[in-house]
Amino acid sequence: MHFFKYKKKELYAEDVKVKKLIELYGSPLYIYSHKTLLRHFKAYNNAFGRYPHIICFALKANSNTAILRIFAKNGGGADIVSGGELYTALKAGISPKKIVYAGVGKTDDEIRFALRSKILMFNVESEDELKKINHIAGEMKTKAPIALRINPDIDPETHPYISTGLKEHKFGIPIEDAIQYYKTASRLKNIKVMGIHKHIGSQITKISPFVDALKRILILIEELTYKGVEIKYLDIGGGLGISYKDEEPPVPKELAQHLLPLLKGKEMTLIMEPGRSITGNAGILVTKVLYLKQGYEKEFIIVDAGMNDLIRPSLYGAYHRILPITKKKRPDTFADVVGPICESGDFLAKEREIPEVKQGEYLAVMSAGAYAFSMSSNYNSRPRPAEVLVKGKEHFLIREREAYHDIQKKARIPAFLK
Ligand code: LLP
Repeated sequence: MHFFKYKKKELYAEDVKVKKLIELYGSPLYIYSHKTLLRHFKAYNNAFGRYPHIICFALKANSNTAILRIFAKNGGGADIVSGGELYTALKAGISPKKIVYAGVGKTDDEIRFALRSKILMFNVESEDELKKINHIAGEMKTKAPIALRINPDIDPETHPYISTGLKEHKFGIPIEDAIQYYKTASRLKNIKVMGIHKHIGSQITKISPFVDALKRILILIEELTYKGVEIKYLDIGGGLGISYKDEEPPVPKELAQHLLPLLKGKEMTLIMEPGRSITGNAGILVTKVLYLKQGYEKEFIIVDAGMNDLIRPSLYGAYHRILPITKKKRPDTFADVVGPICESGDFLAKEREIPEVKQGEYLAVMSAGAYAFSMSSNYNSRPRPAEVLVKGKEHFLIREREAYHDIQKKARIPAFLK
């Protein structure tokens, strides 16, 4: 559920007309609903109730500082995968004691930064990494808190690019080798074993992969406890899907109803790393229709947002609902909604049944709150859009639209060319 709704044929973000926001902030524009963000965040908190838990929002889905601040103020933590995300999470006011750090390629500098910041734990993905963290912690005369990321070999039945917990994937360590890894970790002087981690994929629309993966992990935890390895934190990752079109993914409450019975009597703190299910449907991308064009076989609606602003359709063939911001009585047509980028892969929708639109009208690309702005780029030297947060009748600029000089800011011309 979200708070982008038509009122008298005009699309509103909460209580503000989208058209008004476009007039104020320009196009293309990312718009987020505060109420939706909060509702989704709280849905997790409420679902897991009294079982000790931390919601570590996955920054990769959306790393806008103001949005992160909303979660921080409500007790949220962060799941990060880079030094940059650590920096952003801290800037947003997220407590380092609620930050978990995953990713297969942590650099020495990033490890040092995380140790200095005293994060909750590193989710370690290989033996080399474990040894590297131990070494750096030794140099810094500290102990590094870690969990091992286990690859439970579970098919999340999602898009192949966004599933992560199968044998062929680069993530985590094979479950059969886990005991050996924990033994190694326990022997390392500057490592402190805190927990266990798994994440099997994203946009998962069924409960069963979560249940199956947790069952596997719990068997492993029992074995570890028997062997004297204490697991305080059980990090089950993120991955819950959202409805882009007609998917009917479970909500956090249903997930909790299936997972909590398995955890009964187990004294651990549960960590979850949701990303998409919190911000995905809390954001939209509004774009202007620049031109209409009849090709050989197709009609094209050319808009001012491209794959640099929202890459999901180009990269995964992802479906995002596209709605006119003003509803009118008009026939539907079939068209490709394409951006201005010089690539055939630059499209927001293909062969889409869409109401006939006119030049100068605006379209809202829905479900653009996760992996949207965070995956944007300056390709074709295009400044990134502004981001606006709506709260009831109020609206706030939470990221300025980039200017041409922003794109050039880091460029240098060597003296011999001057
Ligand atoms: N934790 C870990 C370790 C992850 O790798 C991910 C996502 C998450 C948590 C958050 O998962 P979520 O709750 O958002 O499903 N760019 C792709 C999605 C990539 C997801 C990568 N990992 C997309 O646009 O669909």
